[in-house]
Amino acid sequence: MTAVDTTRTSRYLLGNYAPVQEETTVGLAVLAGEIPADLDGIFARNGSNPRFAPRGRYHWFDGDGMIHAVHFEAGAATYRNRYVRTASFYEEEAAGESLWTGIMEPPDLSRFPQVFKDSGNTDLCWFNGDLLALWWLGGDAYKISLPDLETQGIQTFGNTLETHMAAHPKVDSLTGELLYIDFDPMPPYLTLGSISPAGAVTSSRVIELEGPRLQHDIAFTQDWVIVFDFSFMWSRSALREGRTELEFARDKPTRFGLVSRRDPNAAVRWFETEPCFMYHVINAWQDAAGNVRLLGCRTDDPLADDPTNPDRIAPTLGKLRLEPQLVEWTFDLGAGALRSEQLWDVVNEFPRMDDRRFGQQHRYSYTQRAAAAETLLFDGVVRHDYVMNTFEAHDWPQGWYGGETVFSPRPGGTSDDDGYLITFVVEEATGRSELHVLDAARMSDEPVCRLAIPVRVPTGYHSTWIPGDELRSASRT
Ligand SMILES: [Fe+2]
Repeated sequence: MTAVDTTRTSRYLLGNYAPVQEETTVGLAVLAGEIPADLDGIFARNGSNPRFAPRGRYHWFDGDGMIHAVHFEAGAATYRNRYVRTASFYEEEAAGESLWTGIMEPPDLSRFPQVFKDSGNTDLCWFNGDLLALWWLGGDAYKISLPDLETQGIQTFGNTLETHMAAHPKVDSLTGELLYIDFDPMPPYLTLGSISPAGAVTSSRVIELEGPRLQHDIAFTQDWVIVFDFSFMWSRSALREGRTELEFARDKPTRFGLVSRRDPNAAVRWFETEPCFMYHVINAWQDAAGNVRLLGCRTDDPLADDPTNPDRIAPTLGKLRLEPQLVEWTFDLGAGALRSEQLWDVVNEFPRMDDRRFGQQHRYSYTQRAAAAETLLFDGVVRHDYVMNTFEAHDWPQGWYGGETVFSPRPGGTSDDDGYLITFVVEEATGRSELHVLDAARMSDEPVCRLAIPVRVPTGYHSTWIPGDELRSASRT
């Protein structure tokens, strides 16, 4: 096996971005505090962990998927990490080397339509008793067994899913539906679908766009799904030459589209806003006045080598520049107008909240505060109180950086700060890794507990919480 050469120049192969080779199962020791008696379930986080040396230039998004999880049960905690074993993973394992180039290189058209490796490395979604691993460019939804994290194969929803599924599908807790998108540089550029609580695709609708747009997330309310037509797009001339190249059209307004969840034949209602890109939304809902509200992390300068960018240090990932700020948009449905308001000027990303509130008005959300660094590092987690528009931070220790914090509701609790915030926290200089559990209602307190992880947990992407009662009920079926 060709090990990954971490001496290569990509910053995302060095320090705590460097991959780990071992798959480990180990009980965790408590360093401080104690594991809450009512913390029952699995915290799981996905990320990029290249198994073989990259072909050509490496981008952090290229690596194989690896899930790191901590299972809390009866006051004890067990850590596991396992690769997401996709079809592409098995092909490369058989070859003993990387077969795909990454997104910094031209796509390998000889592998059409799988021109980039579907790694399942980006997101995790707990839906209908299945944990799904998902890929940001839109791939197969891989089922992951719990608690052992073995990849079980592709979830096709009884062969009703005829497209791929991108990262960030969202469950509507009121209806039990799963809403998702698929997107592509070739037509159809964007497809929006929904899956019933019984686990079958019930709608799949092509959203007409003028051209290929980079997509990443969606939001929904009880009546609408919000889709995006950003000013950040693939260059069509580059595509004609067999290359993928992103461009940011500062002269082209971004459009947000409201797609009716009630009338499949209704035209999309498009609203224009300033040119921007957004990786992650926080939430959307319909307010008492009948307006649609949307909160998200907007980035105004998404392209790293754009000469008109502000002269500030911001995290970059290859050609992507990540300097997002918290913005609220209000859709005035009567006037057909959309207005935006920046709520905070601190760079923050990877927002989370109580997932049970998706599509309904929430009060609290939790975003990761980006350090002033050239790579993406979070030096704290901040709770935003939407009602008061106030912010309260929990700083990670000096030299330590946290990942995406998931909100784990306290069993029986209903308030969206009645629960725990959980994430991996790693000392950059040494790779020492811990799991921290915070009380979401008491952000400035010391962690409720800190657990020592005896192996290094590389910096990663998205996480989820699987409640113990749902886990047990899924394993019985
Ligand atoms: Fe994401």
